[in-house]
Amino acid sequence: MKQEIMTIISQQQLAPRIFQMTLTGDLVNEMEKPGQFIHIKVPRADMLLRRPISINQINKEAKTCTIIYRTEGDGTKVFAELSTGDTLDVMGPLGNGFDVDCLTAGQKAYVIGGGIGIPPMYELSKQLKQKGIEVVHFLGYASKEVVYFQDEFIALGDTRFATDDGSFGVEGNVGNLLLDAVQKEQPDAVYACGANGMLKMVAQVFSDNPNVFLSLEQRMACGMGACYACVCHVPDDETGTKSVKVCDEGPIFRASEVVL
Ligand code: FAD
Ligand code: FES
Repeated sequence: MKQEIMTIISQQQLAPRIFQMTLTGDLVNEMEKPGQFIHIKVPRADMLLRRPISINQINKEAKTCTIIYRTEGDGTKVFAELSTGDTLDVMGPLGNGFDVDCLTAGQKAYVIGGGIGIPPMYELSKQLKQKGIEVVHFLGYASKEVVYFQDEFIALGDTRFATDDGSFGVEGNVGNLLLDAVQKEQPDAVYACGANGMLKMVAQVFSDNPNVFLSLEQRMACGMGACYACVCHVPDDETGTKSVKVCDEGPIFRASEVVL
């Protein structure tokens, strides 16, 4: 983990409220695992807490990394106003990242993303594909208007879409796509990032599969395991006192390791 002032080399809007930003700096040399995140200081004196954003792509040769974020509150709105040449104070990479070593060439992985949980799944899918693993993507969005990165996923493998209003792909959430798919085949591993409801559904559908990896989202402060702002409860804890820290023990856990 490093802290560095990184330089923005591009920023573009992909869809309403969705932005893609590419940064350059030595910190990219530290980035290995898909699913890790960077913790970015908002360049405004009154905003002390950093904002956690997943790494969407790592390009070591070019020494760049890309993030995709949705503007929510003041912090992400400040990010959206930045442009090429501006700098950001970045800490990272943080978190454990997805386990891609549990699979070998020829096996099949389901890669599931919902809404703003989709960005880290791209680097994951790229790395799985490089290992010779067959990837099937299940991507869920609110509507056609906010669909982004669809061509990039299609270029890596079979990609199925769902939208809440049915304006693109199947109507409803990704659960509908998954229920249909599992009637025909069972994947060797399942990776998911998205809203808690989606993660619960993924855990349920694949309850017999030991390789179900879920990326959790919790509000964070330090981002490196020191403040306990980001805890999540664990199963079979009668005292209700045991927990895991999403920032450094996660954000990725096997479905059996956490209570959603
Ligand atoms: P505000 O609501 O003004 O934020 C106030 C405070 O709450 C800040 O400290 C902020 O960090 C925290 N906060 C608010 N919403 C969230 C949230 N959903 N999760 C965690 N903290 C929150 N968003 C993306 O758009 N793209 C990503 O790739 C992405 N990856 C993430 C990876 C991880 C591990 C986590 C925990 C969150 C991720 N998020 C991502 C969510 C993103 O961190 C929040 O949307 C962002 O912090 C909101 O900041 P804000 O100032 O705009 O909103
Ligand atoms: Fe401080 Fe996780 S954010 S321990």
